[in-house]
Amino acid sequence: MKIQIKPGFLFPTQFWTAELNENIEQLQKEAYLIRKNDKDGVVKSNSGFQSYHSKDIRDLNNLPGTNHLLKQIINAVNTIHQISRKGDLQLTNFWINISGKGSSNTPHTHSGLTYSGVFFIKVPKEMKGGRFLFYRNFNEADFISSEYMGLFKEGYQMQGYDYPINTISPKENLLVVFPSWVPHAVEINLSDEERISLSFNFKLNRTF
Ligand SMILES: [Fe+2]
Repeated sequence: MKIQIKPGFLFPTQFWTAELNENIEQLQKEAYLIRKNDKDGVVKSNSGFQSYHSKDIRDLNNLPGTNHLLKQIINAVNTIHQISRKGDLQLTNFWINISGKGSSNTPHTHSGLTYSGVFFIKVPKEMKGGRFLFYRNFNEADFISSEYMGLFKEGYQMQGYDYPINTISPKENLLVVFPSWVPHAVEINLSDEERISLSFNFKLNRTF
């Protein structure tokens, strides 16, 4: 007797995007001001000679555009959370990345937090590389899945679930939010222009 094989799906992961309407020119000016006042920044997942990662930003006094942006992000992330869950979120930290040619961010998670995300402040006109990458898991972030699953057959039509990586093309004023445990990275910026983003983390204020 021929057996019937039924495919299923495990754990789809939600992420969210929103196009905001922020003053991008102002935000770009403020990003350079942040770098001017915190030249050394900090080294985290960022890699590359022309890669700048600010320390966590704590003082918004001279950053009205960034202050406005954060209010929009707080509203958006609370709205996302409250579709299905109880409780309020707290913005725990935020920082900027200014990525010159050759800069990238290696695969990582923001473990211990609830939601993380990125907002694109400056995207080179002719963006080459610099895409935001989501990985299904760290095995597939570190290895190419064909090394352990084998190559796809000739003529096979690949489906969404066959791809171990999802890519987001950066766009100015685009907000991307995802659960903090999802492995992610940024491709090398191959453009001559800088790419600027603001990243953030939220944690649930537990009331139970
Ligand atoms: Fe990250």
